[in-house]
This record gives sequence, C-alpha cells and structure tokens, in this order.
Amino acid sequence: MKLNEGFVIIDFGSQFTQLICRRLRELGYFAEVLPYTVTLEKIKKHQPKGIILSGGPYSVFESDAPQFDILELEKQAPLLGICYGMQLIAHKKGGVVEKSLVKEYGHTTISWSSETQIFKGLPLNQEVWMSHGDIVKSVPSGFKITAVTHNQLPAAMESDRIWATQFHPEVSHTQNGDHIFKRFAELCQAKPNWSANTVGEGLIQDIKDLVKQGDVLCALSGGVDSSVTAMLLTRALGAERVHCVFVNNGLLRKNEYENVLKMYHEIGLHVIGVDATSLFLEQLKSVVDPEQKRKIIGRLFIEVFEDQLTHLPQVTWLAQGTLYPDVVESVKPFGGPTQTIKSHHNVGGLPQNMKLKIIEPLRWLFKDEVRRLGLYLGLPKPMIERHPFPGPGLAIRIIGEVSAESLEIVQKADQIFIDMLKEHDLYHKIWQAFCVLLPVQTVGVQGDGRTYEQVLALRAVTSRDGMTADWYDFEPAFLKKLSNQITNQVSGINRVVYDITSKPPGTIEWE
Ligand code: XMP
Repeated sequence: MKLNEGFVIIDFGSQFTQLICRRLRELGYFAEVLPYTVTLEKIKKHQPKGIILSGGPYSVFESDAPQFDILELEKQAPLLGICYGMQLIAHKKGGVVEKSLVKEYGHTTISWSSETQIFKGLPLNQEVWMSHGDIVKSVPSGFKITAVTHNQLPAAMESDRIWATQFHPEVSHTQNGDHIFKRFAELCQAKPNWSANTVGEGLIQDIKDLVKQGDVLCALSGGVDSSVTAMLLTRALGAERVHCVFVNNGLLRKNEYENVLKMYHEIGLHVIGVDATSLFLEQLKSVVDPEQKRKIIGRLFIEVFEDQLTHLPQVTWLAQGTLYPDVVESVKPFGGPTQTIKSHHNVGGLPQNMKLKIIEPLRWLFKDEVRRLGLYLGLPKPMIERHPFPGPGLAIRIIGEVSAESLEIVQKADQIFIDMLKEHDLYHKIWQAFCVLLPVQTVGVQGDGRTYEQVLALRAVTSRDGMTADWYDFEPAFLKKLSNQITNQVSGINRVVYDITSKPPGTIEWE
C-alpha cells in the first residue's frame, strides 16, 4: 500500500501521541507515528505532506530532553507543534521558553487573534485542554502569537509554514480540535484518501504481492480482528489458499462455536473447526491460578494448531491479527519496562518457532478502522459490533477451578445478561458485559426451602480502548429484572451482585 504523502507524527513521549494519529485518520488522512530518534532520511522517505511534533513530559532545558533538528525538519514539510512540540520549535528557532509561574492544567479558555490561518472560521473564544509546566515567553523572529489564555499566556503561534499550539487539540476536551487538524491538512495541501475502500483494496493488493507462493494458516477466535484478517486474505488469495482454524476450547459462550462456525461458512471462509473441549477441560482440572490457566490454554492452542499443520504441508505463512497500537514504536513517557498485569495468551499471539513466515495485514490499523474495514468487506454487523472476548474465554470468568458444571452456569447466566442488554437497547452502549462465577456460597431462601449456593457477579463497563474503563450505571429496574431472571432460571445461583469498580484500580476481567 502506498503509505507516503500523509502525515508523520514525531513522538516525544506524550500519552496522547496515538490520539493525534487517530484524529488525522478519522479525517481521512494517512498518519504514522515515529519516535523522536528517527532519522531525517527516514522521514524524507515517507514524503510527508506535513509533520506534527507531539507533546511530551520533558522541559526543553533538561539535559536528557528529546531533541530534533527543527531547522532541517522544516525544510521537509510544514510543521505543527503541540505543547512540547511548540516549545521545542520556539527554543530551536531562537525564541525564549521559560518555566511558567501560573500553572495551567486541564480546561482553559483561550482567545484567538482574528488573522490566524489555522483557526479560520471558528469562534474567537473557546475551551481547550492544557497540560504544561513551561511556556513560550517570546516567539522566534518571523512568528506571531495567535492565541492567548485567560491568564494572557501564549496559547498558539505561527509563521508561514509552522503552526503551534500550547494546548492539545487531539484531546476530546478541546473544542474544535478536529478543525485545527483539518485546517493544518488543508494548509499542507494534503488529500484525504484514507478510507475503508482504499485501505481495503490497498491491503488486498499488498497480500497478493507478498504471498506469491505457499498457503496461509489463519487462527480464528470469533472476534473482529481475526475475522477481518481472514476475510482480507481470502479476498486476496482465494479460499482454497487460506486455511482458517477455529478451535472450540469448551470455554466459549453458549452455542458460540456452532453459531460462529456457521457464520464463517456463510461468508465464504474455508474454516476447519476443531472441537478440543475435552482436551482443554482435562488439562484445566484443579488449576485455580489465573496466570496458570492462561499458560495452559495458550500452550494447548499451539498444540492444536501444530497438529493441524501436520495435515497442511502446503502452508508456509501464518496470519496474525496484530493491530497498530501493538506495533507503533512509541516512546514510553517515563522510560523503563511496563509491568505485566496479565499475560494475554490468545490466538493472535502464536509463537514464531512454528517456522512459518508471519503476515500481519492489520498492523497499520486502529480497532475502529478494522471495524469499518470489516463492514466494507461484507462481514455481518453483529460480528463487527460484538463485545471483546478474551482468548482464555470463560476460564478467567470462573474464579477458581473450571468444570463442566461451572461452565454451564456461567454460559446460562451470560446468555440471559446479553439477551437482556440487547432487548433494552443497551448492548452497544457498553464496551463489555459479562458474568463472573465466584467460589463463594451463601445462604438463601427459595420457595419454602433454605439454599446454599454460589454468588454470580455482573460486570458491565464503558471504555474507549480497554485501557481504562468505567462501570455502567444501569437503571435499578434493569438490575432488579436481571437478578430475578438469573436466580430463577440458573440453578446453582442464589445471589447476584453488581461490580462497581472502575479500571484502574480494578481490571475489566476479574482474573
Ligand atoms: P483487563 O482485564 O486487563 O482487560 O482490564 C482488558 C481487555 O483485555 C481482555 N483480556 C484478554 N484478552 N487474552 C485476551 O485475548 C487474555 O488473556 C485477556 N485478559 C483480558 C479483556 O476482556 C478486556 O477486553
């Protein structure tokens, strides 16, 4: 795919850098994030129409502050500096940056001067989102200040080919942030040609060019990423060269294996269904530690795929549904390795020692772009809009040991929960909703008798990307009806609780 002639975003370690990329792509422009250590040569190869310098947690005065040769960079394309990016431009071009005595953090009101190019067509006063310790005290020669905050501090500056904002237009709290990116793109004379159609056809052509010989093995999970990957490959190479494997590990939701398999067949994929339920349940016996469960499930998946490979000697490629956030070489704001909270073993992460060449058609895309591409490729809407489901499935929603009986309880309760969300038109307002079976028995009373049965926890969260999440605030009447149905219809449960923990401090799953 021809990925040049878009925008290059130089990452100086801001937690919002990927948002800049998403904003531009949402506006229809190709954009790519590169770390500030990238060479000028590499940037030139991308033939960018415009270059954006991100924010970052540093001060330009710090000895280890990230640097860039702005004088050379500005020769390549027009620039847009954001926060640290603005300060770096000012510092390198002879302006004065200093510590701000007034701290501006969060919502701030700014006023634009009427003659600015980048803000043309919008109201003169607006709310923006700030997060900085330094300010540009005086702008370099050839620049003018184009916006000030209500404290009369500089909020934006510009010259002929360089624009810069002290605030973050990529953050949703900034009003009209998109307009600033759109105006910048227009000033750069970029063409909006990033759409599901061009991306889909471009990726299909890339696959044809890359996979000249050999067949492809594609692991399906029932989720959107692996389904779109399989669909792209099938469009490019034909169903007979793309061997999709869908494993029933016995840890799927009620009837999911049969339903998903049927749907895969209907959309024309060549799918091999492998029912390995007894293998998985056997190996999970007496295992209670969540990480142990993940490791066993991950290992068994690999064994099943390896077994399938022995029947498919013509396969030389392995497809993976890796997405852009996993591959983007971004700068960690405060350095150091990040701690592993949960090891995510799933079908997207098969090891490379399978001696197959790896193909990752979605590695340029964000999740929402994958969804749009899926619709363009003709995948059914319910599949595209399904809540995310973890690779280890219900095993990490049964706290403690997994058994056929506990699986049946969770499957039944889960179906009631999800059906009721759909009935009340709530399914799409929620990022993920599920039930967790607790290894706790409590006393209850049903009919005339005393019961001593398990507790079921309900979890429903809203989220943008799964990194942070808030619990969903249901109407009490909805919870009442749901709790009633579950305790009446699912034997083994006599108490239902609702989880009101956000992430952080909790995680979305309980294990
Ligand atoms: P947590 O629980 O870490 O979950 O807040 C964030 C998102 O990741 C999913 N998740 C997993 N997905 N394998 C997966 O494929 C796993 O082991 C796994 N653990 C959590 C979770 O459902 C949520 O969408």
